[in-house]
Amino acid sequence: MSSDEQAMSTLDVRGLGAPGAEFLNVEIASGVAADVFAQIESALDQCAVVVIRNQSLEPAQLAAFARCFGALQVNVRDEANSGATPEVFYVSNVTRDGKPLGSHDAGRYWHSDLCYLERPSHVTLLNALEVPSGDGVTYGDTEFADMSAAYEALPEALKHELTGLRGANGYRFMWNRKAQQFGQRKLLSEQELQKFPQDALHPIVRTHPRTGRKCLYVCDGYTHRIEGVSAQRSATLLPELFAHVAKEQFRYRHRWQVGDLLIWDNCAVQHRATFDYPATLRRVMQRCCVEGSVPY
Ligand code: OGA
Ligand code: MN
Repeated sequence: MSSDEQAMSTLDVRGLGAPGAEFLNVEIASGVAADVFAQIESALDQCAVVVIRNQSLEPAQLAAFARCFGALQVNVRDEANSGATPEVFYVSNVTRDGKPLGSHDAGRYWHSDLCYLERPSHVTLLNALEVPSGDGVTYGDTEFADMSAAYEALPEALKHELTGLRGANGYRFMWNRKAQQFGQRKLLSEQELQKFPQDALHPIVRTHPRTGRKCLYVCDGYTHRIEGVSAQRSATLLPELFAHVAKEQFRYRHRWQVGDLLIWDNCAVQHRATFDYPATLRRVMQRCCVEGSVPY
């Protein structure tokens, strides 16, 4: 059998509706052949969200696979990173040895990963180690919103107005907003916030570097000002755009299974976590973010 036939016979890619594709028979831990990786990447270009089921991965194995997509980003929040493999970041609601394991408030608002950096994440990989469930019901879904569809659905006049404008995306802004709203992190002084990256300015209408599609790029979690319009216009436009991004018509909702390795494209989609489960149900995820190009 040629390696092409091998790949086809071991892969089962099924559409989940737009966006989304599912791979059932791929094993990531032992390394992925180039032709299989090409199929995953092409599904990602087409669908923006891809799930590879049933993966049991050590942090180093997750990082090794994530590196196929590009250079990995080490999150600025050291305490949430894996000690041995700092490119792996934990998202959970669990406390271990008296300390929170990873971030307890990740994904509270619609956002695109690491949009506060000059080079935001192109791809994110999130692997479910523990999924909250009880009485046959699974909680803690992740929702995705199609940013190309969101851009296309804007009125022509607004598309025109937004062209060439840039949004200020702030990690520092996000930090204290979350601290105040959810109490899962310490409120920091202006001086303490300086250790985090400065705002990044990115085009509000960006071009997908692989597909060429135009995508809306404003994040409720981070974008706090639009450059190039008055403060007043910025203050009315942003909530309008956040409400637009959040419309049901653009959404895909991922219901997790333990072992899912979900991969998404942060230009093509935004995402948000659902916090619909009690603290007695555990949720533990490990994540890698892959550096993308400077948005244009
Ligand atoms: C993330 C994130 C959402 C979730 O890890 O980047 O936004 O559902 N997670 O955990
Ligand atoms: Mn995220």
